[in-house]
Amino acid sequence: MHQLKGKRILLGITGGIAAYKAAVLLRLLRLHDADVRVVMTRNACEFITPLTMQALSGKPVHTELLDLETESAMGHIDLARWADLILIAPASANFIARYSHGFAEDLLSTLCLATTAPVFVAPAMNQQMWLNPATGENLEKIKSRGITVLGPAAGEQACGENGPGRMLEAEDIVALVAKSFTSNILSGLRLLVTAGPTREAIDPVRYISNRSSGRMGYAVANAALEAGAEVSLVSGPVSLPVPDRAEVIQVTSAQEMYNAVMQKIKNTDIFISAAAVADYSVETIAVQKIKKSNASLELSLTKNPDILAEVAALQSPPFTVGFAAETEDLKANAQTKLQSKKLDMIAANQVGADLGFDSEMNALTVFWGNEQKELQQATKTRLAKTLITLIAEQYNEKNINKTH
Ligand code: PMT
Repeated sequence: MHQLKGKRILLGITGGIAAYKAAVLLRLLRLHDADVRVVMTRNACEFITPLTMQALSGKPVHTELLDLETESAMGHIDLARWADLILIAPASANFIARYSHGFAEDLLSTLCLATTAPVFVAPAMNQQMWLNPATGENLEKIKSRGITVLGPAAGEQACGENGPGRMLEAEDIVALVAKSFTSNILSGLRLLVTAGPTREAIDPVRYISNRSSGRMGYAVANAALEAGAEVSLVSGPVSLPVPDRAEVIQVTSAQEMYNAVMQKIKNTDIFISAAAVADYSVETIAVQKIKKSNASLELSLTKNPDILAEVAALQSPPFTVGFAAETEDLKANAQTKLQSKKLDMIAANQVGADLGFDSEMNALTVFWGNEQKELQQATKTRLAKTLITLIAEQYNEKNINKTH
């Protein structure tokens, strides 16, 4: 289940005998390389200890809404933003009732209100409680808000009764969560993505570069793979694990990135330029290490090719998506780039202290035609998934219009 690799899953545990199954669930999620943080309600701690879950997750377990220590380490809003997905298993009848009414009286219910991540709920309760119309109405309410309900299964219950209300087995929950990260919206399409910084050599040991970590571009490449695309990734120097199923071409300078892109572009359906390409390179690279003998040093720089603009200017260009990293006038600057480079779409990010370059989080405003959409602050993984959905929609729209 490669889909779970590196995914940030917040596992919420509520009070009920099925809480013991949460330990197996956590173990399985970790086995599939998910990054899991656990939040337990007070009642959950009566059934299984936070210590067990801490040992299995390798991370502190969160139990209190207003706990000075955990709030300073990772506050509840940070935790809500951190998650790619919130999974509540087991979810008791009481929790579902409180959730359906939007209560925010403990850490878990507050997180559920504060997050924009998808929330999955695996109910577990006595069969009469499950069959009670009040529970049914509460479930309908949360489903209508886009919450996914997993199960429950039917069978023998801990109380000795038989019927619906058993929590799904951990293996089934993990499989459903993994599946939720995939789609086929880009199947049959070839994507080319650029990521990371470029380095422009000054002499054999020095270079000009920028703070790009490659995370945004790698997240886009992974999201495209999960959407069924065939992906080539042209990457500047970064220290990230390469996506398993992508063709990865490692480059260093802007000129090398340009050459690699131009070599691959012919059969590309969608080009996404997330790399922070150096706009200039050093005119004459010193053969030997430059000595610090002079009080000042002048470097003469020449303009690099604009890879994105050149791709968009091809005779039959792919669907072309740029990024815009802005420190001011985000909207105006992004729209200028969209038009001047003749792009199909541009994803603009305001770069600052905790967003954009070299950060786990980002926020995007995406522009195309006369339209725009705000993608609120979230992990780059989650933003990339939403961006890929938007790109697939607009790619299809453009191609439908072309054939009419
Ligand atoms: O790598 P991370 O740490 O995760 O950070 C992500 C990011 C901030 C680098 C990413 O989200 C981003 O904004 N990438 C584009 C950065 C950039 O160079 O923006 P720009 O506004 O200077 O360039 C506009 C567009 O032209 C970009 O799509 C860029 O890839 C492209 N470009 C720029 C110059 C050039 N010579 N060739 C290009 O293709």
